[in-house]
Amino acid sequence: MTTTPRQMHLGLFLQGAGHHVSGWRHPRAEAGSENFDLLRRVTQMAEDAKFDMVFLADGLTSAVDAHPSMIARFEPLTLLSALAMVTSRIGLAATSSTTYGEPYHTARAFASLDHLSGGRAAWNVVTTSYARTANNFSKEHPAHDERYAVAEEFVDVVCGLWDSWDDDAFVKDKARGIYADPAKVRVLDHVGRYFRAKGPLNIPRSPQGHPILIQAGSSGPGQDLAARRADVVFTAQQTIEEAQKFYASLRQRVAGFGRDPSTVAVMPGILPVIGRTLEEASAKLIELDHWTDIASAMPLLEERLGHSLAPYDLDGPLPDLPLSDQLRSRAELLTELARRENLTIRQLALRVAAGRGHHMIVGTATDVADRMQAWFEGGAADGFNVMPPFFPDGLSDFVREVVPLLQERGLFRTDYEGATLRDHLGLARPEPEQRASAG
Ligand SMILES: Cc1cc2nc3c(=O)[nH]c(=O)nc-3n(C[C@H](O)[C@H](O)[C@H](O)COP(=O)(O)O)c2cc1C
Repeated sequence: MTTTPRQMHLGLFLQGAGHHVSGWRHPRAEAGSENFDLLRRVTQMAEDAKFDMVFLADGLTSAVDAHPSMIARFEPLTLLSALAMVTSRIGLAATSSTTYGEPYHTARAFASLDHLSGGRAAWNVVTTSYARTANNFSKEHPAHDERYAVAEEFVDVVCGLWDSWDDDAFVKDKARGIYADPAKVRVLDHVGRYFRAKGPLNIPRSPQGHPILIQAGSSGPGQDLAARRADVVFTAQQTIEEAQKFYASLRQRVAGFGRDPSTVAVMPGILPVIGRTLEEASAKLIELDHWTDIASAMPLLEERLGHSLAPYDLDGPLPDLPLSDQLRSRAELLTELARRENLTIRQLALRVAAGRGHHMIVGTATDVADRMQAWFEGGAADGFNVMPPFFPDGLSDFVREVVPLLQERGLFRTDYEGATLRDHLGLARPEPEQRASAG
């Protein structure tokens, strides 16, 4: 039983060219998804501010008209392995796809990162929404619900492989000549609908037992996967009411799987634009927006809606579109936003270009802290994924001005209490899932 009051969790959502589509054009922006020095500095800045984790999104395609942060970027596990060497406490979360991967590779890669970082690895489990991804692989893109059926089995296999060895299996007994104790190996022997993996995994059980599991899809099947398996859930909601609804629904599903809802942290994205006054913050956003041309904003909106908007008037309302097979929950959230605020297609596209449908907070540091507190205390969030519009200033403004306010209010830690990401999240280390040993 802990007596510490509940505190929020903070993640840095790290994208080299910033989150605002035009962030990289700001005179003070240092853009570059392949600029390791910048990525190192901002990760260390987040660690100095005691963030729970740094998070890398990922996709398996590129296009010249994509968001600048997504045209080119490091492979996440490779980048996090390098960042693990220049940090000591901050969690390291990488996205990896269950549609275009193999459980054995994924289990091994994340267990390796967990060892290399001393227990700081997290896997953002994604099913990969975009059908064009299949152009880069020797397979067809499965439909939405099948992608989640694959993901369910994939995650089970990965967790099973992480339990291949008892924690004390590698005895390295020089006198008896025993390196690994044969009685402490657990063979998975998985043969399922989509995957086969005999095991054992070729790496010892990792410091966290299981690296942290993050899930970021909010459709029904997405929430079920999160409820059954995730430690952290990333979301994108525009209003506190939507966020409260999602939060309550997810917690109910978590309880439905026999798990304690307080062991799953829900973290919506927030894009803060901070000024000394509201006017200054608004002017900052206007400045960023004026670099965005509609031609670069439209593909981002169309991608999220899963439909071309070419036949429609940009200055007219968003038409009723059929359910998308891509990012289903995001398409729904954006459609609700357009209806609620009576936005034209052009206005909606510019909104997506700024924050891709995440919640934007424009105001003073106090405004940002107040909003975060209201969501945190109002049953809408357990923490936030912070999305600076550009780097490094977007992050340095936040850590210099907002984090101290959250700390003064007792809402955020002033120092790390433990060494692993599991410790930061207040989660127990899991026992190996029960299975007959191979010995
Ligand atoms: C904060 C956040 C980060 C995400 N990161 C990725 C990512 O890196 N790669 C990816 O393919 N999808 C990513 N997604 C998309 C989700 O995995 C999911 O496909 C999308 O939210 C639609 O979910 P649904 O199909 O369950 O509605 C992210 C979603 C959120 C909210």
